Amino acid sequence: MRYLIFADIHGNLEAFLAVLKFVQKKKVDHFIFLGDLVGYGASPNEIIQKIQNLKPITLVRGNHDKAVCGLDTIETFNPIAASAILWTKQRTLKKNLAYICRLKKGPFILHETITICHGAPFDEDYYIFGEFDAAEAFDHITTPVCFFGHTHFPFVYVEKENIVAGTFMEGEANEVKLEKDARYLINPGSVGQPRDRNPKAACAIYDSGTRIVKFYRLEYNIQEAQRKILAERLPAALAERLSLGI
Ligand SMILES: [Fe+2]
Repeated sequence: MRYLIFADIHGNLEAFLAVLKFVQKKKVDHFIFLGDLVGYGASPNEIIQKIQNLKPITLVRGNHDKAVCGLDTIETFNPIAASAILWTKQRTLKKNLAYICRLKKGPFILHETITICHGAPFDEDYYIFGEFDAAEAFDHITTPVCFFGHTHFPFVYVEKENIVAGTFMEGEANEVKLEKDARYLINPGSVGQPRDRNPKAACAIYDSGTRIVKFYRLEYNIQEAQRKILAERLPAALAERLSLGI
């Protein structure tokens, strides 16, 4: 089975289109989305419509999806993120809002071999930043692999013989072969708002046959995504950060 692993599109249609185009060239059997379809970017409706065409797909909600649905307060969001949530809430069509409000809360176990979550398996809103967090996350999973999002950094944590080690998937064309006697927490990075100073859209493909996870970075039309953000009078910082990858 080949899985496309992707997360954190955040309303960025142009970045998502680059991933969809890329996937056409790769044989993918199953899509796994790790939350945050919306928030920050200017195209929530187009993304919610397109995600429904991807089949089969397994997905969980993100904290921005939850906030747009009113399932979470925006008090914990910074002012820029909060204003994007309010804008998204107003601009998302009722039927599309209904779709994101039905997204499942993570963690979710798929085929008894893969866990998926947005933040962490013990708390969907928690950021796994570092080996200490990862060790706690490993305590909360029963599968050999857990895919997570939320931090917008492509990262792999390995647990082997009770030692946890993390590796940032810096740059392009990284791949990791999953060993049978180890467990893994894997973040594919963010499609629509990378924060690792590489502005290209991030995603990964996991081949459960070869046990290899490949990480990809894809060029996309950043200028168009920025133009839409500014045209909608969303905060200009949300446009600027896309070209910096922060
Ligand atoms: Fe996110």
